[in-house]
Amino acid sequence: AHKPVRQVAVFGAGYIGLVTGACLAELGHRVVVRDIDPAKVALLRSGDVPIYEPGLGDLIARNKERLTFTTDLDETLHGAELAYVCVDTPPSSSGDADLSRVWSVVRSLEGAAHLRAVAMKSTVPVGTGTRVRAALDAGGLAHVGYAANPEFTAEGTAVHDFLHPDRIVIGASDEATAALISELHEGVDGPVVVMDVRSAEMVKLASNALLATKISFINEIATLCEKTGADVEEVARAVGLDHRLGPHFLRPGVGWGGSCFPKDSEALRQLASNTGYHLQLLSAVIEVNNLQKRRAVQKLKDELGTLTGMRVALLGLTFKPGTDDMREATSTVLASRLLAEGAEVRCWDPMARPAEVEPWVSTTRHATPELALEGADAAILVTEWPQLKDVDWAGAAAVMRRPVLFDGRNLLDPAGMRALGYTYMGVGRP
Ligand code: UGA
Repeated sequence: AHKPVRQVAVFGAGYIGLVTGACLAELGHRVVVRDIDPAKVALLRSGDVPIYEPGLGDLIARNKERLTFTTDLDETLHGAELAYVCVDTPPSSSGDADLSRVWSVVRSLEGAAHLRAVAMKSTVPVGTGTRVRAALDAGGLAHVGYAANPEFTAEGTAVHDFLHPDRIVIGASDEATAALISELHEGVDGPVVVMDVRSAEMVKLASNALLATKISFINEIATLCEKTGADVEEVARAVGLDHRLGPHFLRPGVGWGGSCFPKDSEALRQLASNTGYHLQLLSAVIEVNNLQKRRAVQKLKDELGTLTGMRVALLGLTFKPGTDDMREATSTVLASRLLAEGAEVRCWDPMARPAEVEPWVSTTRHATPELALEGADAAILVTEWPQLKDVDWAGAAAVMRRPVLFDGRNLLDPAGMRALGYTYMGVGRP
C-alpha cells in the first residue's frame, strides 16, 4: 500500500526533537526542525550533531534530503500538517514543570494554514492537553487535532528505541487525530496504544516513576544485603527471573540520575500534591535515592577515617555510560560533597563535556583512569564505562597512595581486585 508522506514541523532541536525529527525523516516524512538557538541550528546545518547519541549523526546524514534545520518560523510552518512539540519542560521554583517554552510554541502555530494536528512529545503534567486545546481554540485553530504522544526512548539507545518501541502511546480526543499520528508511525516496529489525552500524559510519568522505584528498591535491598551478608547480585538475578518482575532496572548502584527520572519523579510528586494527595511510595523512592548518594561518600569516610585532605578519584562522570549527558549525574553530587568535606577531587570521563565538568574539577580532569588514580587515597567508580574493566588495576594499585576502591556499579570482580591488594567495596555484595 502507498504510505502517505507528511510534512512535519518539529519544535526544539534538543534531545527529543532531534531523535524524533531524524526518525520521522527515516520513515519517509519531510521534516523541518526548528530551534531558537542560531548556533545550534548552524551546527546542525553544517552536518554536526550537538549531542552524543549513537546512530543519530548517521541517521541525520542519511536523511538530509528530507530533514532541514532552521530558526525561521515561516519556513517551519510552511505546508506543515503536523507540529511536534519537543521543547524542554524544566522544573520551576515551585516544583511544577515550567511550560513557558511549550506555550511559546503553541502561540507560534497561529498562522499555520495546513496544520491538522499538534502532538506533544515534551513531558508535561497531566491536564496540559486540556490547556493546549483551549489555547488552540482561542488562537483560531479549533479545527486542529491534539495528541499526547509521549516518548519512552532512553539515552544511548534512543534511535533504536524510537524505531523499535515496546509501545507507541497516542492520547487523542478524536479518532481522526489518533489515526493521523498512528499512520505517521507506519514502519515503526511496535504496537500502537490509543487512549484519552490525560491517560497518555499519565503513562509517561507513571512509567518513569515505576522504573525509578525498581532501582531504589534494589538499592535498599543492597543496603540490607551489606548488613546481612547476602549478595545483591545473586538476589537480583534470581528475583529478575520471575517473569512477573523481570530482570530490568534491578542493577544496584550509586543512585539514579539523568535528565528524566529526577525531574519526572519530582513533577509527579508535585502533580499529586497539587491535587491534595501525597504520593507516599514515590516520596520514599526519591528519599532512598538521595540516601544512596550520601552512603557512597560515607563509605569512603568510614574507610579513610576522614576525607579532609584526601585525594579522591571519580571514575566516570556522566549519569550513565554511552552518553555525554551530565544532567543530575550522581558524580556532581558526590563531587560537591567530597569538596565540602575537604577532599581533593580528581576525575576521568571519556565523554562528559568539559564545560559541564568545569565548575568543580576543571584543573583535575585526566585523560586516562590511570592518571586520575595516581596519588589518590581512594577512588569511586561512578559510571560503568566499559573502558574501566580494562584499566591496568595492578599498575594503578602501585601508584595510588592507598588502593581503596568503592565500585559504585559492581562492575569489577571483588576477589580479583582484592588479590591485587585493593580494599574493595561494592554495592550490596560481600
Ligand atoms: C529514562 C527511561 O529509561 C526512558 O524510558 C525514558 O523515556 C527516559 O528516561 C525519558 O523520560 O526521557 P534515561 O534517563 O535515558 O531514560 O536513562 P536510563 O537508562 O533509564 O537510566 C536512568 C538512571 O538510572 C541512570 O542514572 C542509571 O545509571 C540508573 N539505573 C538504571 C540504575 O541505577 N540501575 C538500573 O538497573 C537501571
